[in-house]
Amino acid sequence: MGEPKKLYIKTYGCQMNVYDSERMVEALGGNGYVEVATPDEADMILLNTCHIREKAAEKVYSELGRFRDLKVAKPDLKIGVAGCVAQAEGAEIIARQPMVDLVVGPQSYHRLPEMEARAGSEKVIDTEFPEEDKFERLKARPKAKRGPSAFLTVQEGCDKFCAFCVVPYTRGAEVSRPAARVLEEARDLVERGVREITLLGQNVNAYHGAGAEGDWGLAQLIWALNDIDGLERIRFTTSHPNDMGDDLIAAHGDCAKLMPYLHLPVQSGSDRILKRMNRSHTAESYLRLIERIRAARPDILISGDFIVGFPEETEVDFQATLDLVESVGYGQAYSFKYSPRPGTPAAERPQVDPAEAAERLHRLQALITAQQRAAQDAMVGREVGVLFERAGRMPGQMTGKSDHLHAVHVQAPPEVLGQLHRVRITASGPNSLAGALI
Ligand code: 5AD
Ligand code: SF4
Repeated sequence: MGEPKKLYIKTYGCQMNVYDSERMVEALGGNGYVEVATPDEADMILLNTCHIREKAAEKVYSELGRFRDLKVAKPDLKIGVAGCVAQAEGAEIIARQPMVDLVVGPQSYHRLPEMEARAGSEKVIDTEFPEEDKFERLKARPKAKRGPSAFLTVQEGCDKFCAFCVVPYTRGAEVSRPAARVLEEARDLVERGVREITLLGQNVNAYHGAGAEGDWGLAQLIWALNDIDGLERIRFTTSHPNDMGDDLIAAHGDCAKLMPYLHLPVQSGSDRILKRMNRSHTAESYLRLIERIRAARPDILISGDFIVGFPEETEVDFQATLDLVESVGYGQAYSFKYSPRPGTPAAERPQVDPAEAAERLHRLQALITAQQRAAQDAMVGREVGVLFERAGRMPGQMTGKSDHLHAVHVQAPPEVLGQLHRVRITASGPNSLAGALI
């Protein structure tokens, strides 16, 4: 083979896209590609896209527009669109941006090498939901060394059909990977230097993969991962309140490697809106659930997602959301203005005035920011584990993540990179903690 070809891949959206992008880089390695950091020198540009909100989807088209000059200067440059926008819009992308050569949906990534070979001489589109196991066919070829923290997709798709959400349409029905496959991939990651694994799924706590005797739930999978020597931390995201089983709650208390952090979106604090969202839980049932989780693991840090300005949301509904946030005390939370997604039930309903929604978002975010800061400040004086991931910005400084997922800066020798150490937290800044090695 001659000179390696250069691949520039840009990832939007959730952590599952980050995982998918890594797999696509590996798969295209077999076609002679190496990854590069900028589009200017690339032989192929791949955008791994997100469709969750309109803003995320529109970004893709403006980004494609920026590549026009590159394509004119280098006509054999291949441009591909992957991810959920590819799945949702398919051939429409090429109709809007004819310079796009390839459109590939998330269920077809294992076909990417073959598609890449054809792209350029023809337009190539694949947004099928095929039967074969894409994960098996995407297995990493080279045993490249890895950073200390890795994502591992165990479940994909969603059957919940929240009224606002495109995921059931773009990622399809819920599918879990067999437990043996997950454990094999985890052991391989650990051999390559990984110390922390975050299990990914759109509905990860609904995991039910084929195991040794019947299906395994997520808790069983976590306990099996707990036995892998060299693996030091386990996390999982994103969970649905209705799938938070007793065994998983108990694991938060009993499983030493399972970190004290849980992302558990509630979306709204108003039962009227939750019902219209098709969430099938209430504010009260969510609060009781949080109580049970905290009983199992008192220092757990709770994170969430919120949508404001959902169709028909009134000031009274919104106040119920603020009340719920007050009751829970989030360590971290993400909040979004409702964005109507074509094809979802809520897109057809009477919309809230955008200025009103923006104002509510502002109020919610102020409350959440204050809670986040309080949770972070409360760490000062405590001893935590820190997994060091990179050199810090200051000389002699190393940076990592605490058990509770806070960024922590520490004066430490470079050898700590990739290692887990005990750290005493000494100060809390706007976005991170400072600490000292114990
Ligand atoms: N508009 C705004 N936010 C949305 N989310 C999902 N769909 C929409 C939408 N149409 C948010 C939810 C979800 C997170 C990943 O994105 O809060 O939990
Ligand atoms: Fe979307 Fe999550 Fe609801 Fe599934 S559970 S429809 S992924 S918001």
